Amino acid sequence: MYRRISRPLQLSRSFSRALSTRATNVLSALGIEPKHGVLRGVYDGKWGGTGAPVVSKCPTTGEHLADISTATPTEFHELIERSREAYHDFRMIPAPRRGEILRQIREALAAKRDHLGALVSLEMGKILSEGIGEVQEFIDICDYATGLSRMMNGQVIASERPGHSILEVPNPLGLVAVISAFNFPVAVYGWNLALSFIAGNATIWKPSPSTPLCSIAVTKIIAGVLEKNGIHGAAASLVTGDNHIGDALCESEHVTLVSFTGSEHVGQKVGKKVQHRFGKVLLELGGNNASIVMPDADLSLAVPAVFFGAVGTAGQRCTSTRRLFLHRDIAPKFLDTLKKAYASIPTGDPLVSSTLLGPLHNDRAVKNYHRQMLHLHDIGAEILTGGKVAKLNGFEGGNFVQATIAVPPSMDLDLWKQELFAPILNVAIFDELEEAIQWNNSVPQGLSSSIWTRDVRNVGKFMGPAGSDCGIVNVNVGTSGAEIGAGFGGNKRTGWGRESGGDSWKQYVRWSACTVNYSDAAPLAQGVNFSL
Ligand code: UN1
Repeated sequence: MYRRISRPLQLSRSFSRALSTRATNVLSALGIEPKHGVLRGVYDGKWGGTGAPVVSKCPTTGEHLADISTATPTEFHELIERSREAYHDFRMIPAPRRGEILRQIREALAAKRDHLGALVSLEMGKILSEGIGEVQEFIDICDYATGLSRMMNGQVIASERPGHSILEVPNPLGLVAVISAFNFPVAVYGWNLALSFIAGNATIWKPSPSTPLCSIAVTKIIAGVLEKNGIHGAAASLVTGDNHIGDALCESEHVTLVSFTGSEHVGQKVGKKVQHRFGKVLLELGGNNASIVMPDADLSLAVPAVFFGAVGTAGQRCTSTRRLFLHRDIAPKFLDTLKKAYASIPTGDPLVSSTLLGPLHNDRAVKNYHRQMLHLHDIGAEILTGGKVAKLNGFEGGNFVQATIAVPPSMDLDLWKQELFAPILNVAIFDELEEAIQWNNSVPQGLSSSIWTRDVRNVGKFMGPAGSDCGIVNVNVGTSGAEIGAGFGGNKRTGWGRESGGDSWKQYVRWSACTVNYSDAAPLAQGVNFSL
């Protein structure tokens, strides 16, 4: 139960200083004007929220972008009530009609794609091309789900009894909460919303407390479409806030499914809380992904892919390449070429289109990077390049670090087993594929993996029962940057969840096995006789 006493919000409070032109340009293109005071961060058909604000800070400059109000306990309970009301009507709308409304949401997102992408860059810190790519993922899953809205098929099963049929029928779940992370502040919500929406649920979004502006911009776009179609806005509501709101969603008996993306540590708590009340949970947790490069690999493809996997999003994707296993025969050449790429990484403002390495998301991430570098030094790792926190001229308040390649002294170290959101790539050299697969599988997480080879026998080994134990197993494709079409997710401590494509939609509905008797008799199954 959400009962926290929160500091009341001073709604009269205004910004005492003006926002930079850089930030104003991005925000005003999306109709966000924080200069008028605190922004409302709660939407359940109307915008509100008077709870203690969260702060949006630019990772590139350190600029304070906005204060965003959260929900008080009373407002949170009202939002749950509004969501229940919305669900009551929304579930009765035919799925293809819900698909048509989602198609309109897709169009509205596409019209603002580049502006939203810029907001992702501004607030999260990833480079513009990746920010836009993330919005494109939301657009793509809307296309997918619009089609799916006419194909959410159950099965008709042959009955053993004459004149009977068995049908598997999908119906909506009710309320679905999506608790998303800072690193994909738009796409991961998109994957969940699109499927939950066509399934007929009311979806409640709790974004990361450090990316509230992305969630407000997206919700404004969705709310506009819902309003135009006469749909209750709480079919896609928003509640910004910290872990107290997250806990309240996990504990609410009214929330049937909680889809959580974040750390293993928090995911474990979420899983327990939701399971405690027998709710459904979908977990998308840590990734500790490896690329394996075989001696027959095409290095002109493998090197750029590893470079993108390790340096893209400054190493802050769940799918980032953190471990690189090189066959001894190609290791020197591979590392030489990779080091050349690392030597001239355009680092700076992620909003500038030539930048490839933006800042880490916050100063805590910089501290974690720094601590890991000290540890690597302590254990005698060889640092091939990078290794330092970076101060950039003109961006003194930014969270910049150097992309790093390290060769730890042994495989028997805890650092191989932990996910760290930073551009640090740890390298090891192997002689046999079996050894590399064993290393790939020797970590608690199981999200993404990749092999570079032209030999079909290696492909078979990697994809088969004695191969990679990850949810994503790529061949001549890097660990990150998955398309929306397949189920996305990982095994083991990554949480076993699947989102986005594939059969993921089946988790957003409740399944009923319906046996229908069309006959004039009522026989029992298994030939049981129970007549008087
Ligand atoms: C995440 O990091 O949480 O495969 C999601 C990728 C993206 C999604 C990453 N499509 O890298």
